[in-house]
Order: sequence, then C-alpha cells, then structure tokens
Amino acid sequence: MQIMKNKLYRLCLTAVASVLVFSCGTEEKVYTIASPGNNNELVFKLTETGQPEYSFSFNGKKVIEPSLMGFEFQDTDKMTEGFEVVNTEQNTVKQSWEQPWGEFKTVEDNHNELIVHLKESKGAGRLMDIVFRVFNDGVGFRYSFPKQPNLDKVKISNEVTQFTFPFDNDVWWIPVHGENSYYESFYRKTPMSKTDTINTPATFETRDSLFVAVHEANLTDFASMTLLKTQGNTYKSELVPWADGVKVYAQTPFVTPWRTIMVGNKAGDLATSALTLNLNEPCKIEDTSWITPTKYVGIWWGMHLEKYTWGQGEKHGATTENTKKYIDFAAANGFDGVLVEGWNEGWDGDWTADGTAFSFVKPYPDFDLEEITRYAAEKNVRLIGHHETAGAASHYESQLEDAYNLYNKVGVNSVKTGYVNKYLDKKEWHDGQYGVRHYRKVIETAAKHRIMIDNHEPVKGTGLWRTYPNLMAQEGARGQEYNAWSADGGNTPEHTTIMPFTRLLAGPFDFTPGNFNFDYKTPNNAMVQTTVAKQLALYVVIFSPLQMASDLPENYEGKPAFQFIKDVPCNWEETKVLDSKIGEYVTIARKDRNSNDWYLGSITNSDARELNIPLDFLEKGTAYEAEIYADGEGANYKTNPYPVVIEKKTVNSTMTLDMKLAPGGGTAIRITPLKINR
Ligand code: NOJ
Repeated sequence: MQIMKNKLYRLCLTAVASVLVFSCGTEEKVYTIASPGNNNELVFKLTETGQPEYSFSFNGKKVIEPSLMGFEFQDTDKMTEGFEVVNTEQNTVKQSWEQPWGEFKTVEDNHNELIVHLKESKGAGRLMDIVFRVFNDGVGFRYSFPKQPNLDKVKISNEVTQFTFPFDNDVWWIPVHGENSYYESFYRKTPMSKTDTINTPATFETRDSLFVAVHEANLTDFASMTLLKTQGNTYKSELVPWADGVKVYAQTPFVTPWRTIMVGNKAGDLATSALTLNLNEPCKIEDTSWITPTKYVGIWWGMHLEKYTWGQGEKHGATTENTKKYIDFAAANGFDGVLVEGWNEGWDGDWTADGTAFSFVKPYPDFDLEEITRYAAEKNVRLIGHHETAGAASHYESQLEDAYNLYNKVGVNSVKTGYVNKYLDKKEWHDGQYGVRHYRKVIETAAKHRIMIDNHEPVKGTGLWRTYPNLMAQEGARGQEYNAWSADGGNTPEHTTIMPFTRLLAGPFDFTPGNFNFDYKTPNNAMVQTTVAKQLALYVVIFSPLQMASDLPENYEGKPAFQFIKDVPCNWEETKVLDSKIGEYVTIARKDRNSNDWYLGSITNSDARELNIPLDFLEKGTAYEAEIYADGEGANYKTNPYPVVIEKKTVNSTMTLDMKLAPGGGTAIRITPLKINR
C-alpha cells in the first residue's frame, strides 16, 4: 500500500564511486557519492590511521568538513581506526509513498546510497558498515554492525561521530537536561562557540547563507544523540547515558539510528524536508483506517489555571457532570474528542512525587467512565484517555494491557500519556536507551489495541510516526501550558516563530493553541503573549494531527473568530512555507487533505509587521474566497490582544495579499475555491 511507484535501481559496485588522490607521494582512496540532483556530494575516506572520515557539500558549499567516525566500548577494544575498505555498494532509490496523515499526502524518496563495508586490517578483523544516503536536501548515515565471531554483546561507551563545520556558525539550540529533562526550554541563537552540549534538532544559520539542521532518524533501541561542542568548529555525538554510565547496550547484528544533516537555502526548506521520514521504515500497521486526525477540547486548561484540580475535592475537574458539558460543547461545535485529565486514582496530594500511586483502570468515584463514554458515543464524540505516569514507567508498563483493554471496552481510541518527573523510574533519563525502549513499548502496545498516542514529556521525535502512525503527536517543547504558570511569565512572542524550524523538525507538536481569554490571573502572572488572531494562525503554523481548542468552552461563546478553529483541518495534502525569518515571522500555507481549500497562517514576534504574500500557490484560473481573520485596530499582545477583523475577499493566483500583523499578532485565512475551471 505504501509504495505507489517504485523504481529501485540496485547496482553492486566495488569502488565505482572511488577516486584516487595523491598527496605528498601517498595514495589515498576517496569515495564520493552525489545526490540524485547532482547538487550535493558526500565524500568518504579512511585517514592515514585507517579511521573512517566523511565530509559533505551542498551546491558547491562545504557544509561539513572532514569529520571522524567510529565507536568506543566499555568492555572491548574501540572500533575507530585500523580499518580497510573491503568493498562498497551503491544504490539509487526513486519512489513515492503515502502517509495516512501528515503535512503532505505523498512523500518523494529519491536518494543515492553508498554502503562502505569496513574491516579491521589487523587483530580481530572485526566488521563495521557505514551506510550513507544522499538526498537533494541533505544526507543521512548510520553504522551497521553485522553478526560476527569477534563482536557480540557490547556496551557502547562513546560515539566518535563528528560534525565539523567550516565556520563558527550561529545555531538555534536548547540545552541538554540542565534546565529540563524533556526539551521544555526556550530556543536561543548563539555562535556555536558559545554552546556546550545541545539537543537535536539543532538548526544552524551558516556564514555562507545556508540553513542546516543536525538531527537523527529512526531512534530505535539506542540512546538519543546530543551534540557536544569540542575543539574548533566541531560537535561530536554525545549519547545520553544510562544511570550506570553505559551509553548503549547492544548485541550484533545491530544498526544505529541515522545521523542526519538537512540543508537548504531557506529556513522553510528544512521545515518541509521529508529526509527524516524517508529514513524511517515503512508503516508496520496494516490497517490504518482507525487512525484519524482529531480536533479536541478538554478538561485541561482549567487545571492549569487552578479553576479545577486533578485530584479529588471541591474543585475536581473530572466529574461526570462536567465531562458531559464538555461533550455537549464538542458535539455542538464539531470537535471529535474530549480529553479529561484527573479521572483516575493517584492524583491526590503531590502527584509528581511518586507515580506508583496511579491506577489506569480505577476511575475516581465521581467519574462514571461507562456512562460518560456511552453519552459521548450518542453524541458522536469520543473521550480521549489520559495516562499521567509521573515518570513511573515500569509501573505503567505493568498496567499497560489492562489499561488499554479497558479503553478498548469503552471505545476510547486515543490516549495522552505523560511523564512529569526529572527521571523515569527515579534514575533514567527520558531520552536514554531506557526511555527509548519504554516509549516504543507503549507505541507498539497501543498499536496492537488500535489506540492513538499523544505523548507528553517524550523522547524527541525522529520520524517514527511513519512506521507507527498511531504515534500522533508529542510535546517535547514549551507548550501553551507555560502561559498559565511559568515563573518567567510564559512563552515569548518569538517562541512560536522559532518552532517550525527547530522543534517541529522532530515531528508534530501538541502545542494546544486556541486561547481566547486573557483576563485570567495566576500566582506567577504568566500570560498568553499573543493576539487572538495569532492563536488562530498557530493552527496552520504548528502542525499536529491532534489539535486542541485549549480554552474553556465559555471563552468561545459568542466569538465569531471561533469559526476558524471549527473550520481548520489538522491533516494536509500539501504544505508550503511562503516566507520566514527564524525568530521573527513565518507564513505557512497548507492544502486540506479532504477538500480544495487552502489555509494560511502568518505570525510575528513582538514587532508589528506588514507582509506581502503572493498567492501563486493557488490553482491558476480559479477564483477563491479568502476569509481573513486579521489583527484589528489597536491589537497588541501586551495591551489589547482581542481585536480581530474578519473580512471576505475574492482572490486568485495572480494576486498578492497584503497583511498587517500587530505586535505579537498574526493572520489566519481560509481560502475556498468559488468555482473550478477545468
Ligand atoms: C504535563 C502535560 O504537558 C500537561 O498537558 C498535563 O496537563 C500535565 N502534565 C498533567 O498530566
């Protein structure tokens, strides 16, 4: 089902891509492989000591200077040098495949592959392969350790892989673990030389005007890669360790995740790159008909505003009565789901301290699960399940089957999971091999039970939703909730203008936009720092196949702008980044998967801005009606976030739209064909 057209050329070549280079009288064998469009080139060679080394260039510009490769182990000799090339293989793949949901319906996979088979020339003669896949927008490579007599079980202590840039570029980054265990930091831009260890995706603005992102794809049974700044302009892979210091426990045969380097002339090229997805395995779920992009509301923001509590008591939010009200609201406004947090035993007292109190099968007495799900079904709405673990991962695993059986019984087919704690099981990082294994177990078990997952406090996304499309969305960044209680006052206006080029390279983000009321008070005086129109635009700018209308139902009542949230889809045929400057503004257009409508979202940081957007992405010869939700007179995120002007205009592909965005503002547009000329 996945492969629509598949042209696969397999050539088995021995050193066809190799070139002999003579320097200082010595002979050096260099292996090169170009991208299908011939614009990029990957160069591989062995150094004088037999250490693997690669470099990469894009349109003739050096992106990665010669950088070393290899692994070190705790219990056996390192595999970093003393290699010889046994042989090489070269393949070309040109195919396209379809996603059940996503930013694109059809994904093109066009790459050239070079497999280098290496062997230690002396001693144990151990084997290591390196596989490079060169795309028109970057490169991915991974190590493969075949089954072999002299390498079986290993404890990886260090990955040597380097990323050496030609310049001290600027980089957008978040720190590792120091501030937060699950990526909830503000991105900052500094020269590389001002960084230490940073998370991926890390996005570089290079001195020669390229945009480069370093990340990884298909993180399976391995530790996450972070980047440690070493000498000069070099980062090296720094794997997140287990509590005992080991980075990865493995046994041959095994492969590492792909190390990826995406490159573009514009920031938008990174945002629309399919490289990460293409380096993941095809879908393992045969029937995906139950996996449905969903818009939802929920008993959620009320807890963050302290109107409700998760635990029992007078303000308990998850009551049968309250949930029914939310179901009525969802049904009346066309939402598919209602998330309810705090429905199960374990929330009373300090729930973050010890997740072993959580039961995922015992509702609180004032939450009648059977009655609620019956009522929801009657109204064609589904309850969205919630499993907060407070990091007690193994406790959750012990209840997984029972918990999902219960949800199967009552017709709940999506679950939001959560891991609020510095560590999993009190000692392991969320993004070490321990966490990676746990999250995979949850996704696979959920798939078996036909349950979709929305994972908060996750390990970063690496494209796994291609293989398991029931992994719908993740958090893994500062979401809307920070605007309720964060001691720093909430998310800054630039935060969401950075997300599409950093966090979102790691996949869909359950940010939960949709705030309409700014007249709330919380102890920290945190506040949503946008206008209402920008909240609307975020539905287009931040992709998630699960999109929440996060505000309290009463705050939507009588608000004409709510119509946009009701209309906007969360599954797309096509996506275009029309204009952007990371940290300042971004305009994205997306075509609905189920109609000929386009949606456009444009957002700015704290500066007011005028943007002129050519509509040449629309079908030529078709007239469209644009329903524009723009910042109204006097709108300003600081002083008056409310004014929204809604107007209708007839537009076509030859026109340019002039948009005025207020400070912290945005514009959201629905563009519907009036008639299609055939
Ligand atoms: C953190 C999640 O991000 C948030 O959405 C949720 O409400 C709380 N944990 C409680 O589970």
